Amino acid sequence: MKHILSAKDFSKEDIENVFALARKKVWPTLAGKVMAALFYEPSTRTYGSFISAMQRLGGGIIPISGMGNTSVVKGETFRDTVETFSKLSDIIVIRHPESGAAHIAAEVSTVPVINAGDGTGEHPTQALLDLFTIQSHFHDISEVTVTFVGDLKNGRTVHSLRSLLSLYHPKKVHFVSPRELAIPGITGSDNLEEVLPETDVLYMTRVQKERFSDPLSYERLKDRFRVTSATMKKLKKTAILMHPLPRVTEIATDVDRDPRAVYFREQIKNGLYVRMALLSLLLAT
Ligand code: NCD
Repeated sequence: MKHILSAKDFSKEDIENVFALARKKVWPTLAGKVMAALFYEPSTRTYGSFISAMQRLGGGIIPISGMGNTSVVKGETFRDTVETFSKLSDIIVIRHPESGAAHIAAEVSTVPVINAGDGTGEHPTQALLDLFTIQSHFHDISEVTVTFVGDLKNGRTVHSLRSLLSLYHPKKVHFVSPRELAIPGITGSDNLEEVLPETDVLYMTRVQKERFSDPLSYERLKDRFRVTSATMKKLKKTAILMHPLPRVTEIATDVDRDPRAVYFREQIKNGLYVRMALLSLLLAT
């Protein structure tokens, strides 16, 4: 049994195994296997992607989107809920507002647990699909400059992708954010213009409204960095613009038509294939 809790759980070899399967797209059947998706926090893509992945592999699902209709409302503890679903399913995919929740789930679960986002902690499967997307454009990541922009402190996709990337030794990684939203302990800057010309992968993120205790500071910071067609003019022809989505205002909608914008065009489908690969590797007998 193997859980997927953190991007740090992966070696380069593990990653390449997942990617090889995601590229090949020859799937074993998971008929008779069941995936429980326990989403304590809102989700569009990650939820839809896991459900679609399991269905396409021929497996069954227990889709729980929001715990409002479960015994959580009656006061059931997180541990008891997880233990219950670990008896009903072969794998549990969990999203939760608290960082560390997936690790707790893994302590009680008798089946593998996949962290589908734990608060401001991590989102390892998003990082895999992001890296897969980067690799499909740039074969040698050691030649690539990646620029993360936005809410780097609260953005869990950034935390996970950063650790996966470190295994591939990118040429340079820039962290651009308002000072208040920098990753603690990491040197960043608040000057996007300066690094745009050398950037190969521009990774935009949403300012994570739900993590702010003070609505005024959210309002003050939310539009500090916006990608518009003017930004795209300063970006290399060969660069790509990524976003884990949902996009709010940080990328102007007319940028979607730019061929370098890969968030709708590539990342979503790649997410499906990477998750099909992960489910196959964890569940196929
Ligand atoms: C992200 C998340 O939930 O962390 N979305 C996703 O899963 N693709 C990003 C975000 O919410 O901003």
